[in-house]
Amino acid sequence: MLPVPPGMWRVSRWLRVYDWDWRKRPFPGVNPVAAAHRAQIYPRRFFYHVLRVIAPEDRETGRADAVEYDQDVHALLAACFEPVSLSDVIEGDFGQRHGADAVAGAILGLIERGLLVTADADEPVDTEAVAAASEMYVAIQVREEFVAALECVKQIEPRVVVEIGTAFGGTLFGWAQVAHPEAHLVSVDLPGGIGGGGYTREHESHFRNFCGARQRLTCILGDSQHPDVVERVRAATEGVPVDMMLIDGDHSYEGVSKDFANYRSLVREGGMILFHDIQPPPPETAQPMGVWRFWREIRDDYRHTEIIHDPDQFSAGIGVLYV
Ligand SMILES: C[S@@+](CC[C@H](N)C(=O)[O-])C[C@H]1O[C@@H](n2cnc3c(N)ncnc32)[C@H](O)[C@@H]1O
Repeated sequence: MLPVPPGMWRVSRWLRVYDWDWRKRPFPGVNPVAAAHRAQIYPRRFFYHVLRVIAPEDRETGRADAVEYDQDVHALLAACFEPVSLSDVIEGDFGQRHGADAVAGAILGLIERGLLVTADADEPVDTEAVAAASEMYVAIQVREEFVAALECVKQIEPRVVVEIGTAFGGTLFGWAQVAHPEAHLVSVDLPGGIGGGGYTREHESHFRNFCGARQRLTCILGDSQHPDVVERVRAATEGVPVDMMLIDGDHSYEGVSKDFANYRSLVREGGMILFHDIQPPPPETAQPMGVWRFWREIRDDYRHTEIIHDPDQFSAGIGVLYV
């Protein structure tokens, strides 16, 4: 077997972007047409945890969701549907048939042309690319707002993150990318909950793929307002103060007030609580949406910032409260 350049072995944060096989396992809650479309534009493209693929014209922005396909990429894709590492490709059928030289040659050729970038542990996290990738996991966010929120969170590199309201995992994916490499992420969601539908136990392993090798994920399924759930979250944090919390679960005025009252004390002094949907909803909204009202009541008691893409927009908008 050919020696593989050491840089290639580094674990890439990017490859997790491509780890969901939409064709084999449509995500419950995503309608089949949307899932089929995603399977076409986001097939599972490459190795797990080895390299990331970008198109040359996207190098400036680093957008990881645009991939230029060419013959070399196709050849490697064909070989890489299942393997977990580059060595599996070299040692597997494709490598056996074409020889290790051919595999390594194709990979190095792609790197030279800027189509493949070796993962680099020192590379700063590209929040634009993370936000773009989070849309594959159906982040319920305005992309520009999510980029700005990721930037804020990246500054503090949180070690303990609590997310109330995970749905399909879009924001959870994002936090995992900008959190500390040893961060503990705690996700709370209510199966069948309003505004996303929550997730089931079987999605936990999918969400775990979002995390780095040394990150931990605890999933708590239940009503965030129930005292047992509050206690489970408290126990999960093991007395370590929370650095960052997202409140994006029950969007009613009562719901968001209770989440704030129940969990605020877990957040360390100077830590952040993010609220989603601080903009008023459109008048015809049937769902109870009271985050905007609650936010306006409390924001001036704290240092805070508002991330709002368009001041005239209905809904969305992220409030960042420093407690
Ligand atoms: C808007 S989605 C979250 C979106 C996610 N943060 C994102 O942007 O990708 C709201 C989620 O909150 C959950 N939810 C609603 N009420 C809840 C409650 N009382 N406790 C916990 N989760 C709740 C819903 O099940 C839904 O999955």
